[in-house]
Amino acid sequence: MNEGLTLQERLDEFSASDSLRRAIADAVAALAQAAIHISGLTRRGALAGVTGQTEGRNTDGDIQKDLDLRADRIIRSALGSFAIAVLASEEMAKPEILNRGAAISVAVDPLDGSSNINTNMSVGTIFSIVRTPADIDTTFMQSGEAQLAAGFVVYGPQTSLVLTLGRGVDVFTLDSDGDAFRLIRPMIQIPADTAEFAINASNQRHWEAPIQAYIEDCIAGADGVRRKDFNMRWIGSLVAEAYRILTRGGIFLYPADARDGYSEGRLRLVYEAHPMAFIMEQAGGAASTGHARILDLVPRALHQRVPLIMGSREKVRRLERLYMSPDIKSERNAPLFANRGLFRN
Ligand code: F6P
Repeated sequence: MNEGLTLQERLDEFSASDSLRRAIADAVAALAQAAIHISGLTRRGALAGVTGQTEGRNTDGDIQKDLDLRADRIIRSALGSFAIAVLASEEMAKPEILNRGAAISVAVDPLDGSSNINTNMSVGTIFSIVRTPADIDTTFMQSGEAQLAAGFVVYGPQTSLVLTLGRGVDVFTLDSDGDAFRLIRPMIQIPADTAEFAINASNQRHWEAPIQAYIEDCIAGADGVRRKDFNMRWIGSLVAEAYRILTRGGIFLYPADARDGYSEGRLRLVYEAHPMAFIMEQAGGAASTGHARILDLVPRALHQRVPLIMGSREKVRRLERLYMSPDIKSERNAPLFANRGLFRN
């Protein structure tokens, strides 16, 4: 596949004359146009009236910044003229029915990482495209396997769009003239052996034992059972962490913890964890709650939260083994777990 191809050329190649694929391609193209608009706002910041100020709270109690609401409006108006049955957004209490007969539906987090807006750090947009089921009310109550496409945009030093159409993951960057995304990394694969982990360590005292054990071993580095040194990163912006993992490998953890309101972690299943898990798996990685594969989970509610552990496959598997182990301490010290190269990732 050609590097330098525009997103539109890639979408035309994908859809050919298939009507379902055409609908997916049109939705992705509309989301990309919305992203170009949002990218302009994030780049200009206060000059475009973006203050990063709190405007209120969404129905789930999350703080809404001015750009959260503007991004939501931009995406809704971009998708409005396409054949989309149901649109769900982090900023809306309930899904909105647009066009009942349409084959696809879209869930979005219009502006992920919005606490970073006024610190000039990366934020993003996440989307998930699913097949509309016969019972339209269950559109977003399907497992992650119902996704037909998923992606995210990072508004950082470059504006990049990461996309899976179900066969690998492509990375596009917005060209400097600002009107087209161009393919820069076709079929990206997550590197397996990077010694980097990302977690908000200020929550350490609230973590469950398997997370405590995993991070303790990373911090012990070359002196511990992992026998190598690790480096920690925490940007506080899921899209930026995911982009780093795709390009450099490693693991990201937002686990459940003992704080009030965090018994299922912080991130949302429908429009954060499902699309990220689809992308991770399509790039050769994995995504799990520690107990279960994220793509197997069937949401009970639109804004449901879920623990998310994602990244290089062997690292995620190691954590799952810690969750399965009744005696974490002896498990970690078992020669098979500690010493075999496979388990040291
Ligand atoms: O979606 C919410 C989000 O901003 C993610 O982008 C990020 O990973 C996380 O919250 C940061 O959470 P905390 O502020 O608890 O570290």
